[in-house]
Amino acid sequence: MEYLSADYWETRWQNNQTGWDIGYVSPPLKAYFDQLDSKQYKILIPGAGNAYEAEYLFQQGFKNVFVVDFSKSAINNFLKRNPSFPTEQAIVSDFFQLKESHFDIIIEQTFFCALDPSLRENYLDKMKSLLKPGGKLAGLLFHLPEKKDGPPYGGDKEVYLEQFATRFEIIEMDIAKNSIESRQGNELFFEAENS
Ligand SMILES: C[S@@+](CC[C@H](N)C(=O)[O-])C[C@H]1O[C@@H](n2cnc3c(N)ncnc32)[C@H](O)[C@@H]1O
Repeated sequence: MEYLSADYWETRWQNNQTGWDIGYVSPPLKAYFDQLDSKQYKILIPGAGNAYEAEYLFQQGFKNVFVVDFSKSAINNFLKRNPSFPTEQAIVSDFFQLKESHFDIIIEQTFFCALDPSLRENYLDKMKSLLKPGGKLAGLLFHLPEKKDGPPYGGDKEVYLEQFATRFEIIEMDIAKNSIESRQGNELFFEAENS
């Protein structure tokens, strides 16, 4: 497959080349989490990195949270910060090989833009297969001009809408209102249902 390899990402983690890392739960995602109506939801965060979102969810009482990342260093960082997080729910793996499924919610944040755009159809297929019927894919997508020399690989709302609508019912996709300053206007918040 044409995606950037596990070695590529592990090396970036080991060399602290993690410019995407904002250091805390992303405000639009925190707002989304705060309105969820059940702590029982089974939630996945793929390409989770330092996974501040999973840390926040876990602290709020969501115990059925899973993170997956190519990088052992990223997952180890997360487990060091969160020693009571179940290790079997912090998975070092290729997202496309993930076996755990039946998620109620999958959270997107700077994972889609880390994948070669040729993988976007595979991404949508895999997301669909991991979700329960009626489950939600939600999170943030960069609203940036397309560039070939990513990551991050960009895209815009019209293109995303067309692609995501082939597998999901789009509930919402709009410029996020509460992005961090450096991402204001460049980030779409979306929620899509596995119809
Ligand atoms: C741009 S970083 C984003 C990390 C985190 N979501 C954040 O916003 O801070 C992308 C992450 O996806 C991981 N990744 C890339 N391709 C992957 C794949 N195929 N399977 C699992 N993880 C992957 C990388 O190791 C990296 O940690």
